[in-house]
Amino acid sequence: GSTRFYDFKVQTKRVSKLCNTKDIVTINGMYPGPVVYAQEDDRIIVNVTNRTPYNVTIHWHGVRQRLSCWYDGPSYITQCPIQAGQSFTYNFTVTKQKGTFFWHAHVSWLRGTVYGAMIVYPRAGLPYPFKTPYEEHIIILGEYWMKDLVEIENATLASGGPPPTADAYTINGHPGPNYNCSTNDVHQIDVVPGKTYLLRLINAGLNTENFFAIANHNLTIVEADAEYTKPFTTTVVMLGPGQSLNILVTADQPVGKYSMAVAPYKNGRIVNYQNTSAIAYFHYIGAAEYSLYLPAKLPKLDDGLAVKTVMDGLRSLNQVNLLKETDENLFITIGLNVQKCHSKTPKINCQAFNKGVLSASMNNITFVQPRISILEAYYKKINGSYTEDFPDAPVKFYDFVNGAPNNMPYDTESLKGTRTKVLEYGSKVQIILQDTGTVNTENHPIHLHGYSFYVIGYGTGNYDTRTAQFNLVDPPCMNTIGVPVGGWAAIRFVADNPGVWYMHCHMEIHLSWGLGMVFIVKNGKGELESLPNPPPDLPQC
Ligand code: C2O
Repeated sequence: GSTRFYDFKVQTKRVSKLCNTKDIVTINGMYPGPVVYAQEDDRIIVNVTNRTPYNVTIHWHGVRQRLSCWYDGPSYITQCPIQAGQSFTYNFTVTKQKGTFFWHAHVSWLRGTVYGAMIVYPRAGLPYPFKTPYEEHIIILGEYWMKDLVEIENATLASGGPPPTADAYTINGHPGPNYNCSTNDVHQIDVVPGKTYLLRLINAGLNTENFFAIANHNLTIVEADAEYTKPFTTTVVMLGPGQSLNILVTADQPVGKYSMAVAPYKNGRIVNYQNTSAIAYFHYIGAAEYSLYLPAKLPKLDDGLAVKTVMDGLRSLNQVNLLKETDENLFITIGLNVQKCHSKTPKINCQAFNKGVLSASMNNITFVQPRISILEAYYKKINGSYTEDFPDAPVKFYDFVNGAPNNMPYDTESLKGTRTKVLEYGSKVQIILQDTGTVNTENHPIHLHGYSFYVIGYGTGNYDTRTAQFNLVDPPCMNTIGVPVGGWAAIRFVADNPGVWYMHCHMEIHLSWGLGMVFIVKNGKGELESLPNPPPDLPQC
């Protein structure tokens, strides 16, 4: 492959949106940021210079970083942040990977504005496994707040309660005509009647799962999380934060202006939801200039069936044939709960339900970010910043599915810790992710760094070995799986990429509350199975 160079200047930019003006953090003054283009197996070199007072790192979401863990990007996991005035050069290859990816900041809530698409084309001469589209377009879903994001983050975490709902959902940074002062702040795609388009959808939002539909048009999914799928045609898709979908759309309707619309999916009780949706135009060339646009029909806020329909439709394009045996079998509970306020949490105002604090955990461990990067501590054998005792199963299983509501523990005590699970090189890992949260209003989009995994099963309620059905033939290969509300998902991967890899909920607020854990994958034999030395310009904490 060839080498692609990019220069990322992290800088603030003044933007006016929703009748409001503020400074946001951007890359090169662009919102969304620049698109990174490459071809399968290319090397990508991105020099990041931080011209803001904030700490920055960039994560290349979905890129497996084969033997290049140092460039993965999550702050305090694989690197210390790039501080004000400093630079760091990311340098990695997209080995045997192609499709729709995105990059985003991976420190505090900076990715709210610091994100962009990353498109990796098949090797020269290799066609898509579907009819070549007439044109391709990137559609990035996001969320926008009128207040400063750093202030929102600080205030939310100090309150112990939920974050404020976004003031607007956005498509390529634009809210569209449903919002104040946004009649012209709208994204538009011009299409030729009769042609087929490939839309690369990415949900870069912080905290919201989103439905997406185009008025009167069918959507055919052909790729999910940068892996081809069997074509699946539907009228609406759903993407959790961190997920991407490629869809084909044919402009086969009467010439006109149709809406592409985005609205949230939330299951169960929810505070502060505003019934607005972001809109972009799917505009037929030749439509009268002032033609009325046709609104898209989106599912209801809590339409779990629409979500399941999309999930059921995802099948890997080719047969996989996974073996029945695995070496590591983990059962990980995902808990988003209200905890009693303790005297140990004096900085928190206990403003969540019942005067408690919202907290999250995996296997009853609330993840605490260390002060130096785990990868560096592991590599240099520095003791004291993490432990290697993440449990293979929950310490205590809270059965919220079968327990009567009044049996629910008010305080689901979790332990705080920076615990990792060590995996031998090459081990075949199966993980059952089980939602046991009491505050369950949404799926948890669980994202694994360093790997894609096969989603071999999922369902509602508690996972049960006797009834669970696994697809070992054509399961979708993904990097982010929406674990159903109060349900479970089963994933498989082979731990053949040495390094330190974060696994966490891609809802930013859940991550802040501790919904994450870390895998350490040991070296195998020889250079091709070992983590290389750290880069010389690796930022220091
Ligand atoms: Cu896209 Cu750790 O995240």
